Amino acid sequence: MTDRSAPIIALDNVGKSYGIITALQGVSLSVRGGEVTCVLGDNGAGKSTLISIIAGLIRHDQGTYTVDGGPVRFNSPREALDRGIAAVYQTLALVPLLPVWRNFFLGSEILKGSGPLRRLDVRAMWEKTDAELHRMGIDLPDLDQPVGTLSGGQRQVVAIARAIHFGARVLILDEPTAALGVMQSGIVLRYIVAAAREQGIGVIFITHNPHHAYMVGDHFVVLARGEVELDAPRAELTLENLMFHMAGGAGLTTLQHELHLVPVPEAAAGSIRENAGQPRNGR
Ligand SMILES: Nc1ncnc2c1ncn2[C@@H]1O[C@H](COP(=O)(O)OP(=O)(O)OP(=O)(O)O)[C@@H](O)[C@H]1O
Ligand SMILES: [Mg+2]
Repeated sequence: MTDRSAPIIALDNVGKSYGIITALQGVSLSVRGGEVTCVLGDNGAGKSTLISIIAGLIRHDQGTYTVDGGPVRFNSPREALDRGIAAVYQTLALVPLLPVWRNFFLGSEILKGSGPLRRLDVRAMWEKTDAELHRMGIDLPDLDQPVGTLSGGQRQVVAIARAIHFGARVLILDEPTAALGVMQSGIVLRYIVAAAREQGIGVIFITHNPHHAYMVGDHFVVLARGEVELDAPRAELTLENLMFHMAGGAGLTTLQHELHLVPVPEAAAGSIRENAGQPRNGR
């Protein structure tokens, strides 16, 4: 049993520059098993840079990145994966025309026989996929159907379940609900919570959507221009607060003033409301 109180991964003052461009600077965060950490931020805020460092796609050039308490510098996503750190990107790395069970084992196929008779163990893969999806509470009507015919939410969930089955302890989800409608987002959000609470996975949930984040998050990090604009546990944050920081925080207030969108004073707002339903000119 892993110690849920000790962070699996921790970043301390991590940064990354490309020549004179600073993509990320001074980012500290820890991810614990069983918790969902939401990373939010506008376009260009540094979200992709951050998760690429964590997942071993690029290397940081400032600060330290530790896994299970020891510093790491991954040379490839494979090295991160070997430590149980997996990323599920929006592209999902699924093959639409192949059946669900085949996608589940893509790249890690179970084989049987030996020599020239070596072939795919279809039955074993089918049964394992069935058992795993059921164990994780995912109910698909037919494992033989091509993945391309599943709904967007179901596809996400299959990709996440696959990562967990192959040993993910930390799961990075890059905008998993961005292309989904309300119902489909619900499927994915429910599954994110189940993965954390029931399987003790540490989830990093990247999103533009503060509503989605607030529904599932235990901890929130908002990035702006490569730096941490907000870092707060759920207990210290309201949804309104999170939305305010997402919208640009103090910068938004400045913009309102520049555009003369000065908030209506409370007294004036009251008199407007009182007059609202009344006929004009006394008629
Ligand atoms: N390879 C690179 N070379 C130069 N600059 C880069 C590189 N990668 C990222 N940047 C810059 O670093 C900053 C952060 O980019 P990043 O892609 O991490 O943002 P993001 O939060 O993922 O944005 P989006 O929501 O648009 O995906 C941006 O200003 C970007 O232009
Ligand atoms: Mg990005």
